Amino acid sequence: MPVDLSASGIAHIFLRTCSKSAALQRYGVKNKLKMLMYHLYIPLFRSFSPCLALAHETLNRLLYDRSIWRLPRMSQNLCLDPLTAADFPSLAELAGEIWHQHFISMISREQIDYMLAGRYVPEKLSVYLEAPDRWFGLLRLDGRLVGYCSYALTATPGEMKLEQLYLLAEMRGRGLGAYMLDAAERAARQRGCDALALTVNKHNAGAIAVYQRGGFQVREEAVFDIGNGFVMDDYVMEKRLA
Ligand SMILES: CC(C)(COP(=O)(O)OP(=O)(O)OC[C@H]1O[C@@H](n2cnc3c(N)ncnc32)[C@H](O)[C@@H]1OP(=O)(O)O)[C@@H](O)C(=O)NCCC(=O)NCCS
Repeated sequence: MPVDLSASGIAHIFLRTCSKSAALQRYGVKNKLKMLMYHLYIPLFRSFSPCLALAHETLNRLLYDRSIWRLPRMSQNLCLDPLTAADFPSLAELAGEIWHQHFISMISREQIDYMLAGRYVPEKLSVYLEAPDRWFGLLRLDGRLVGYCSYALTATPGEMKLEQLYLLAEMRGRGLGAYMLDAAERAARQRGCDALALTVNKHNAGAIAVYQRGGFQVREEAVFDIGNGFVMDDYVMEKRLA
């Protein structure tokens, strides 16, 4: 085949060669990428997939499963200490903070103050010291007092009553309430009780949800006259300890 050596012919051959080699180059690069994907990326993906799955699961737990933030991370610095007389002032201060923050939407400030004054005074707290039938635990996290609970055997045989379960607002939702609830339940079982009971304000939806989650059911409704013209409109809840 005669070769056109005219200027336009040479230009034509030049351009075709260039475009062909460019196309080839593109094809080659594309193919190389495909080969790379196939030979490198897929096996890499396969070998890394357990790590990716683990990372995915960890991220999910960090975002959605609060248990990862819970007791395993802090249990070393968490203790439920028995109440001592030296704790009375700090307990009264903590109770004041929690009650005023939490109950103001349910009962009046006057009623809160009245109830605090009836509970967190040395005469009332002293009954828990060395008592055989009632217990008061102070929850400390890294040495800081963050909550408390108390429970006592009642006049009903086989029944323990969870009297108090309180946490600072910023400490809620991390399993600390369940931790104290478990302590009360364990104590009840150790003493051969078959029921753990409690009373809770009917409007205390958060606490009711926690108790229900912990296996408690509403046993009855009750209105308690606590004096000074104040009443407590409560649910009595109970957990059967099989
Ligand atoms: C009641 C209280 C002690 C619970 O403590 P907490 O640390 O917040 O509760 P926890 O994080 O241990 O939660 C226990 C369980 O209840 C669930 N829960 C907590 N708040 C909930 C809510 N508002 N709705 C539904 N479930 C809830 C939790 O998911 C958890 O279940 P899980 O272990 O299966 O995840 C705490 O919220 C508190 O101090 N509230 C104010 C004072 C109060 O009302 N005390 C009770 C007086 S009767």
